[in-house]
Order: sequence, then C-alpha cells, then structure tokens
Amino acid sequence: MSDDLAPQPLPARDAKGFPRLRRLRRTDGIRRMVCETTLSSHDLIAPLFVLPGHGAEEEISSLPGQCRYSVDRLPPVLSRLQAAGVPGVLLFGLPAHKDHQGSEAWDDNGAAQRATRLIKRDFPDLCVFTDLCLCPFTSHGHCGVLNGQEIDNDATLPLLAKAALSLAHAGADFIAPSDMMDGRVAAIRNALDAAGMEMTGILSYSTKFASAFYGPFREAAHSAPAFGDRRGYQMDPANAREAVRESLQDEAEGADMLMVKPALAFLDVIRAVREATRLPLACYNVSGEYAMVKAAAERGWIDERRVVLESLIGMKRAGADLIITYHALDAAGWL
Ligand code: PBG
Repeated sequence: MSDDLAPQPLPARDAKGFPRLRRLRRTDGIRRMVCETTLSSHDLIAPLFVLPGHGAEEEISSLPGQCRYSVDRLPPVLSRLQAAGVPGVLLFGLPAHKDHQGSEAWDDNGAAQRATRLIKRDFPDLCVFTDLCLCPFTSHGHCGVLNGQEIDNDATLPLLAKAALSLAHAGADFIAPSDMMDGRVAAIRNALDAAGMEMTGILSYSTKFASAFYGPFREAAHSAPAFGDRRGYQMDPANAREAVRESLQDEAEGADMLMVKPALAFLDVIRAVREATRLPLACYNVSGEYAMVKAAAERGWIDERRVVLESLIGMKRAGADLIITYHALDAAGWL
C-alpha cells in the first residue's frame, strides 16, 4: 500500500490550529439540534399555600408574586397553572390554630384536605402533591413532637401516618413528607396500604438539608421553630455521601419519587442521587432561591426571565426530572 492511500487522521483542528467548536453554535437551528437538555412546563410543580376560612388572599411579602389563598380563592390560580401546562401542585395547608401535637395536620377539614378535594373535583388533570409535616401546625414550630426539648422521632411517626391518611382520603395523588424523621416513609407506606390506599404515592423529601434558604418560606407558612433549629433532623449541607444514603433509604422504605432540597447550592447532590437511583427525582428550588432572584430583578440587576430559565435548565442538567418552583407559572408561560 502506498503512503498516500493510508487512512489520514481526521483533522481535529483547522489550518490555523484551532478546534472550531463554534461551528456548533453558528445558527439557531444548529444550536437547537445539538441542545442536550430540555426544559418544559411539564417538568414543573407549583407550590401553593392554602389558608383556612373563606375569602382570604394575602400577599407574601418575603415571596413577591406569591400569595396565600383560602380554598375558595384557588380556582383562578389553578386555571392559570393548568392552562400554562403545569401538571402538578404542591399544597401547604395552614392551620386556624396551632397546638403542641399539630393536630390540625390530620383534620379532614383542614385547608390542604379541602383544597385537595376541590382540585380533584374541578381540576382533575392537576396532580396533587401534599406537603406533610407538623411544623406549620405545632405551637413550637418543630417538624416532630417534643419530649422536653428533644424532637421525639418515633412518637412523631404515627402522627405523620395519621395526617397522610387524611390527605390520601381527600384524594392526594402523592404524599410528600418533609419532616426528615427516620422511618417515616415506611410508616406512611404501611398506613396507606393498611387502609387500602395502595395507589396513593409518596414523593419523599428524601435528601433535605438544614438550609438558610428556607427563610422566606417560614414567613409564608408561619413555621419558624420557636427555639433551636432543625439541624438535629435536617442534613448538614457539607455531606454528599450521607445525602445519597438518605435518598436510598427512602427508596428502600417505599418512596415512589425522591427529592433533593434546596436545588442551586446542591446541584452536585442532585447528580449523585440521580446516578444512585432509577426512581424519578425532583428538586426543590426553594423560597430563598426565588426571593434572591426577585430582589435582584426588582433592582434591575439581572434579567429575571433568563436567570430563571438558566437556573431551571441547570437543575435538569444536574439530573432532576421534576422541579418544584415558585417560578412555575412564569416559567411555563415563557416556555
Ligand atoms: C416544612 C417545609 C419547609 C419547606 C418545605 N416544607 C421548611 C422547613 O423545613 O423549614 C421549605 C420550602 C421553601 O423554602 O421553599 N418542613
């Protein structure tokens, strides 16, 4: 074989010695073709705060653009979400009264239960996720019941199971426990199955960090702890291996979907959990992340739309299938 017939190495570089990566960015059409990650309104879940009573609609000062609504005020919001193609809502019910145990959490006429029944009746296409935690309902604001100053893990489980049953009976598609007690997914799964609610699912807040980014939410849900903090049950932001253990433990206990929360400071954790499980994975783009974007946009320092879409695509790229975000309605409109 003569030399000029030998296979030539493909030129990785042009005559000037540059690899021309920009060829793939030259036109809109090419950019669309080589786009690796997609974001659609179907990826989004909108959190909603539901008030007891009637005729109430309160702006949440820490979350500009978000309100707390009584059940009768929800339909216009639900219609907008449905029209925008947002497939699911995550309900946070607020109580009329708080007590030591958080007993309104399992009141069949609680705000979240009533909202669930309304949505299942009038907006059957919307998937209802109900947050499950005691902190908005307890007078002390902790996510479990107290034994002295200690959060009593095992005494909390039957209460969570009772609240989960109440939400499931109201028609919730997925119960979303956010309390971070050990063993709660198994306790909730067992209670649902024993009650014949095998088809009610569990989206576990499986990897939830003790985060300063929840500040605006606690104002929205009036759920700040009256003493101490949540580091005895929520995770240390420094720990990535433990983050994977937490999610895999909830998978083993019977969770249908997992979650990493917050999102933006934990994209590596989303990736790590994504690689460790085959379950659908959600991330929670939390209140502090939303509030910072809103505050900077209000000052004209950032382009809100571009920053939001870039953040959401980053969460998808990291490995999230679903994103719980206060930007859901706006983002679905932009998409
Ligand atoms: C309840 C709960 C919290 C959030 C969701 N469920 C607050 C907390 O754990 O303190 C935070 C959501 C957000 O910041 O947007 N346990």
